[in-house]
Amino acid sequence: MSKIKNICCIGAGYVGGPTMAVIAAKCPDIKVTIVDLNAARIAAWNDENLDNLPVYEPGLDKIVAQARGRNLFFSTEVEKAIDEAEMIFISVNTPTKTYGVGKGMAADLKYIELCARQIASVAKTDKIVVEKSTLPVRTAEAIRSILDNTGNGVKFQILSNPEFLAEGTAVEDLLNPDRVLIGGETTEGGEKAMQALVEVYANWIPAERILTTNVWSSELSKLTANAFLAQRVSSINAMSELCEKTGADVNEVAKAIGMDSRIGPKFLKASVGFGGSCFQKDILNLVYIAKSYGLNEVADYWEQVIIMNDHQKRRFAANIVKTLYNTVSGKKIAFLGWAFKKDTNDTRESAAIYVADDLLNEQANVAVYDPKVEAGHMYADLDYLETRSAAENAKGLTVFNDPYEALQGAHAIAVLTEWDEFKGYDWQRIYDNMNKPAFVFDGRNLLDADKLREIGFFFNAIGK
Ligand code: NAD
Ligand code: UDX
Repeated sequence: MSKIKNICCIGAGYVGGPTMAVIAAKCPDIKVTIVDLNAARIAAWNDENLDNLPVYEPGLDKIVAQARGRNLFFSTEVEKAIDEAEMIFISVNTPTKTYGVGKGMAADLKYIELCARQIASVAKTDKIVVEKSTLPVRTAEAIRSILDNTGNGVKFQILSNPEFLAEGTAVEDLLNPDRVLIGGETTEGGEKAMQALVEVYANWIPAERILTTNVWSSELSKLTANAFLAQRVSSINAMSELCEKTGADVNEVAKAIGMDSRIGPKFLKASVGFGGSCFQKDILNLVYIAKSYGLNEVADYWEQVIIMNDHQKRRFAANIVKTLYNTVSGKKIAFLGWAFKKDTNDTRESAAIYVADDLLNEQANVAVYDPKVEAGHMYADLDYLETRSAAENAKGLTVFNDPYEALQGAHAIAVLTEWDEFKGYDWQRIYDNMNKPAFVFDGRNLLDADKLREIGFFFNAIGK
């Protein structure tokens, strides 16, 4: 296989955009075209003002500026890009199914199938098709069946190349990944295709960090990695509740166990619950797969990670209500943060959505400030739950562009996202302008408890 010169990526989202921008920046000899059906998203990727890119990630604007128009292109011309490319990444969304068999658990593969069918109908030359989306183990089989039955003699190789970037650190993760995983068939054609993709990554990633496996191991490793990471968060969150009952401090426990080199310090931060588009979706998918093979104990084991996470979100909201004398009706509860973690504008499955929903059920007035999330997204997140009408959500939730205004006159503050800027606020000024007694519920263990207590706040933090 000669060197790849032309790459197409279907899906210009949180994964496709940053991943391909970094490939283009690091491989100036490869033309990279990212296509999407969503014309508004493509227009935003092409916006001259880099502040308007549809994905906010630290450092992404510089990477896009470096390559865009040189060898990086964003387009809605899906068929043209497929036709021209030697290698096609599929990076479309694979959300949890909301209908039919597997509803609420299985991954919805309709977008993946559409891509496979489109590639099959357009391709006139041999292609390497790369699964970049997170997929159930053995999805490559279905893609192969669609691609191999076109009857036009075009040959396809299918690789699995799951993405391990985390939002908020996507550019850093892509520039300097712990590993890149490539799964392919153990045939001559499969080996050659894997080698072609290895050579793309080898432009900036050391050979020892590029791992090749069979396709099924690669597909399953992605689900496994997310399940293990989420399990650590649920494990420390489970201990956080026990800490609150016993006088132990979850940060001290996390530090003490994290120094055991067998456990390690990462992903031990107790929180209001994990969010994001991946953890819940991928674990539910894993549970569904395990059940479909009749492995009920395996399924139950992993499902508990989700059950614990739901409990953590719920009990955070319940604790606010209980502490505020069992009623928040008509009270202003101010949220610092709505994104599911800092340094991203992504709100998918953010704990803030569920905490707000519970507080709105208790007739609280929720006021939100987030440095990167647009108000429209917050309302859409709440409306999606269908707990109450859009008009009621609009009435119950107010969005502020200025944090001090959001906090003014509040009965309580809930820290839902760990944005660094919250630490630097003038907390004396905030206290002076709040209803007394003034409560803070720190869902991220972010703020300085001693300092806030000295000012006069009643300070609550997860796991303390
Ligand atoms: P996303 O929703 O941000 O982006 C997907 C894009 O694909 C959308 O813009 C959509 O319009 C487009 N699309 C869907 N069908 C299409 C089609 N037929 N033709 C052209 N465009 C189409 O999703 P995402 O967060 O980028 O995730 C994509 C995949 O990567 C998922 O499988 C996800 O599990 C996985 N993943 C996500 C992350 C993450 O941090 N977000 C990390 C690793 C893996
Ligand atoms: C995750 C995986 O980390 C990444 O490898 C995969 O490709 C996509 O899914 P992401 O969801 O973007 O990435 O962010 P991550 O840093 O994993 O955080 C997920 C959630 O867990 C966030 O809500 C975060 O706040 C929470 N979290 C994380 C904790 O509550 N405590 C921790 O110690 C770590």
